[in-house]
Amino acid sequence: MWSFNLRLLLVCAYRHLSYVFLSIGDGKSVINVLGVGSGSGEIDLKIFSKIQARYPGVAINTDIVEPSPEQILSYKERVAKTPGLENINFIWNKKTSIEFELQVKEEKTERKYDFIHMIQMLYYVKDVPATLRFFRSLLAADGKLLIILVSGSSGWSTLWKKYGSRLPLNDLCLYITAGDIADILSSEGAKYQCYELPSDMDITECFIDGDHNGDLLLDFLTETCDFNKNAPPELREEIMQDLRSPGCSSMKNGKVIFNNNLSAIVVDGD
Ligand SMILES: C[S@@+](CC[C@H](N)C(=O)[O-])C[C@H]1O[C@@H](n2cnc3c(N)ncnc32)[C@H](O)[C@@H]1O
Repeated sequence: MWSFNLRLLLVCAYRHLSYVFLSIGDGKSVINVLGVGSGSGEIDLKIFSKIQARYPGVAINTDIVEPSPEQILSYKERVAKTPGLENINFIWNKKTSIEFELQVKEEKTERKYDFIHMIQMLYYVKDVPATLRFFRSLLAADGKLLIILVSGSSGWSTLWKKYGSRLPLNDLCLYITAGDIADILSSEGAKYQCYELPSDMDITECFIDGDHNGDLLLDFLTETCDFNKNAPPELREEIMQDLRSPGCSSMKNGKVIFNNNLSAIVVDGD
């Protein structure tokens, strides 16, 4: 689901979030960055260009924690063909966040990072509170942790809260939103700011009988293969009704516009 609109959203995020990079490297000869679930590195490289613009010529060390070998390969290929990365030292760790946590805990030396990001990846972590606690503990004093997930006020949140237990659950993906993350951070006394990253998705085709794109879109929204064919009729009817209700969507010029907002949460180092 995440490639949908992601680039556009992140461009929007950078406009709001440039301040995050304002002080992370002050007085430092090396800036340490940790990317958790970085995928193919597209977003990471945009982040580096922001840091380089703010701190020209300052060396950057980056650890990337990414379990997928295919994504790591794409990341390496992207780095190889991107100019201007000479002052960045990349270390790829083919690990999940929990494997990385165990590795760091076994090490004797203390690690600290000036900037850590977890973008669209906390859905795949089993123990989110413990993971947040661990990665916060790696933040340098003026460091920042950036988390991006679907917003707690998005249509996704409405769907997941109401239907999460009736939609296909698998071990790999949790229905967690930025609202849940904010609750966890608040309960732990963390200092953080939250920004809404507005995004719309036209889902009108879902309501046209027999429309192929509409069927695919519905599968995507419900994470169910052939939802229209396979879902129990009552569940289908309820979801179709909710998809066009204000909790999920608004009506604009006769179109059903799904609230696809993301939220960015910026956590301060202690
Ligand atoms: C939706 S992608 C996001 C990629 C990138 N952050 C972006 O925004 O473009 C989620 C990434 O998290 C990785 N991932 C999945 N489970 C993970 C885990 N337990 N620890 C770290 N990364 C994980 C996946 O391999 C995938 O590359």
